[in-house]
Amino acid sequence: MPPDNDRATRMSLFLLAGIATLDIINTVDHYPAEDEELRASARRISAGGNALNAARVLTGLGHRAELLALLADDDGGGRIRAELDAERVGHRYAPLAAGVTPTSYVALSAANGSRTIIHYRDLPELRYAHFRAVPIERFDWLHFEGRNVAETEAMLRHARKRLLDQPISLEIEKPRPDIERLMPYADVLIFSRAYALARGHTQAAELLAAMRPHAPRASLVCAWGEAGAWALATNRQLAREAVHAPAVKAGQTVDTLGAGDAFNAGLIAALATGATLDEALARAVALAGHKVTAHGFAHLGKARPS
Ligand code: FRU
Repeated sequence: MPPDNDRATRMSLFLLAGIATLDIINTVDHYPAEDEELRASARRISAGGNALNAARVLTGLGHRAELLALLADDDGGGRIRAELDAERVGHRYAPLAAGVTPTSYVALSAANGSRTIIHYRDLPELRYAHFRAVPIERFDWLHFEGRNVAETEAMLRHARKRLLDQPISLEIEKPRPDIERLMPYADVLIFSRAYALARGHTQAAELLAAMRPHAPRASLVCAWGEAGAWALATNRQLAREAVHAPAVKAGQTVDTLGAGDAFNAGLIAALATGATLDEALARAVALAGHKVTAHGFAHLGKARPS
């Protein structure tokens, strides 16, 4: 995408489709061994979920974000809505469903900031029928979590038909049956290290090259934690080699929970406001590097729109 001075100063309106969770985060001084009993030194309860976290980071950067996630009609759902309101993340299109709020039990190691997640869910997934009710033309950018392949494909197809030139980004975090079917619909595909490793790729650039046939026209991105991130520009730009942005160490790593979500938000915020793919990659890596230096996301909120 060429730099665009007009867009660079503008704040954008994002729609983020994915999940909302309640995270119960126990800080432990080291990661426990199996069958060990361990006392947590701190406990924090927070709304979470990839789309929700990305939405709150975008809002903190000065953009506007609407979350499209199914919210349960229980206490957890109420708590999530209250947090979204407090952080000025929109949820007017988020449907309410009878059920239990998806909950993540997180062991956050004070030794190195690693987060180990046990996720419990017993709530239906977001469906095409929910998405169809959203006036997507209003948005500057649509971002999707790659889950529930059949329903997400229907959403993406609908978006492709209805949108003019608003970009679509798609996060591929976990291998799921037929997930490749979603890839051709996206302008920007963001792969996780976990996905790469599950596909047998031990290097990000190798994964991106292997994914190229699934999405010939998309920009492909893969973040690799402390090794930084790689991006492969679209074939239209005749890019053969992935570019690399090294990780930015902004302080001691205390909390990696949601670092990938901050990376995604940083990337799409930069692209939406006219940055080149290389610039956006560097800004995303810097934002993720900043994220891990403190708990939660509030410390990212002081930055101007990027
Ligand atoms: C972090 C996160 C947590 C959530 C989990 C869901 O990336 O979004 O907030 O509990 O992942 O997979």
